Amino acid sequence: MNASESVLDPASASAPDSVTVRVPAKVNVQLAVGGRRADGFHALATVFFAVGLWDTVTARPAKGLSLTVAGRDADVVPTDESNLAARAARALAAHHGVEANVALHIDKDVPVAGGMAGGSADAAAALLACDALWGLGTDRSTLFALAAELGSDVPFSLHGGVALGEGRGEVLTSVPVGGTFHWVFAVADGGLSTPAVYGECDRLREEAAGPGGADESRVPAPAADAALLDALASGDAAALGAALSNDLQAAALSLRPSLAETLRVGTEAGAIGALVSGSGPTCAFLAKDAAAASAVAAALAQSGTCREVRRAEGPVPGATLV
Ligand code: C5P
Repeated sequence: MNASESVLDPASASAPDSVTVRVPAKVNVQLAVGGRRADGFHALATVFFAVGLWDTVTARPAKGLSLTVAGRDADVVPTDESNLAARAARALAAHHGVEANVALHIDKDVPVAGGMAGGSADAAAALLACDALWGLGTDRSTLFALAAELGSDVPFSLHGGVALGEGRGEVLTSVPVGGTFHWVFAVADGGLSTPAVYGECDRLREEAAGPGGADESRVPAPAADAALLDALASGDAAALGAALSNDLQAAALSLRPSLAETLRVGTEAGAIGALVSGSGPTCAFLAKDAAAASAVAAALAQSGTCREVRRAEGPVPGATLV
């Protein structure tokens, strides 16, 4: 969506009573991780894919900034200034030199700390919602720059659809997609820390290649997978399933060995592709159609290898005013 389509007229005298933004989760259908850079981040070639599991962020006029959270796993989401949505509101206000006067409310449906960019989604939604509430009319490139400062996945939550992410994931190029894909997600008990998973990836690389073996100078530069991009363009689910890849998967499995069993159950139930989503621990399964997705979901739910099973289709648009 274009910011110019989404905001109210900045000259308008009356602020809206509330602004609501819906924002999707993501799965990385490719996550190629290069070596550790001098700044501690890793060079990526990742293909983000937005799926129809949604958080909703509502912004209302207030004096000062407050944040409330409801919905799935709301109890484990911080409501203080560490919440990425609160930081997004502050960053937008600071950019424009205005006060961050807003009551933010997040209704969560995206799994928390699951590798599906739920926190990043809320930050992207808060940027759009506050921009509209405060009548700022921020241009799209500024919104994306602010998003990139907040976190590597936040720009994609604004972008939606499918996009190649380079740099640390924030440099986006749209990827054409020729169809709708059917996903099943197995949500694990408890989250995994993204820095811990990247750290484990580095540790495994140094174990294999010796000291310094995780550094940028020693690991091949990551690159987008041509077969995966072809599969997306043609809408070929079987080819996409075969091309799914995640360089963080070994690290996530090392920290959470039980995920191997989850991946096995979904694959045996007919998934045409399976992988850990992002830094995990959510596992993502691609199904050939809706009926196959139902079978995979039922098998996972019965297996006792995950806390919850979710189904979603995609790609879907990024953060959108509703
Ligand atoms: O950018 P974001 O705040 O989401 O990143 C969280 C953590 O994930 C970083 O502090 C870093 O440890 C790791 N990370 C990384 N390389 C990336 C993206 C994230 O090492 N490209």
